[in-house]
Amino acid sequence: MYSEKVMDHFNNPRNVGEIENPSGVGTVGNAKCGDIMRMYLDIDENGVIRDVKFKTFGCGAAVATSSMATELVKGKTVQEALQVTNRAVCEALDGLPPVKVHCSLLAEEAIHAALWDYAEKNHIVIEGLEKPVNDIGEKEPDVSESY
Ligand code: FES
Repeated sequence: MYSEKVMDHFNNPRNVGEIENPSGVGTVGNAKCGDIMRMYLDIDENGVIRDVKFKTFGCGAAVATSSMATELVKGKTVQEALQVTNRAVCEALDGLPPVKVHCSLLAEEAIHAALWDYAEKNHIVIEGLEKPVNDIGEKEPDVSESY
């Protein structure tokens, strides 16, 4: 059901962790399953992504797609990183089962949220970047009205 590449990135996820004093950090939630993804970016003065790390409360497909997404954006410029869509990530993993495609959105949205944070901190506009709708910032999800 899962490709070898998915299993490889699930079993040996790349770039798991945190970055101290990141250039940008983004946290997004998956509306379908409630899973959470946080992405840290270290961006140099030329707008090149020097380092990237992620942490997740997500399923195996979310781990594999985020691992692959971090590999794809590392060393890229901010503009190039915007081209790393969830579709590109899925293709790089040789596909995901259709019911798991929504999981791959977490990686793309978390990168966009981190880029949004970077842009805000530096008072710049990144052309083509929109604030992800599932951006939950640093807040814990508000569950007080769930019952
Ligand atoms: Fe939640 Fe995959 S089931 S991210």
